[in-house]
Amino acid sequence: MTRCGGTAVDRDAVRWRFETVGSGHLPPMPEPLPPRPAATVTPYEDGPLLVRGDFAVVTPEGERIETGRRTVALCRCGKSAIKPFCDGTHKVIGFRAGAAPLGRDEQ
Ligand code: FES
Repeated sequence: MTRCGGTAVDRDAVRWRFETVGSGHLPPMPEPLPPRPAATVTPYEDGPLLVRGDFAVVTPEGERIETGRRTVALCRCGKSAIKPFCDGTHKVIGFRAGAAPLGRDEQ
């Protein structure tokens, strides 16, 4: 709205305000937030993928690998002796990877 209030846009804005606020009608409510995911996967810079929440780690054959935890670190450097879990070897070998996803140009 301009200061003088004399443009067509200003008149429309005043009418809209009257119709939505002055008439007792409220603006539409925002959409509810999406439900929280059961599990999250967080890539750590130069380190593993941390999985938190309700998840299952399974073999390619579908057998469950018991973790007994709600948080596990999955190796992404490929050098862990206890794959698929991280054993800290990524630090020894100087593994480098960002925490954020690569852009399409960088892949
Ligand atoms: S990411 Fe930790 S050992 Fe591979």
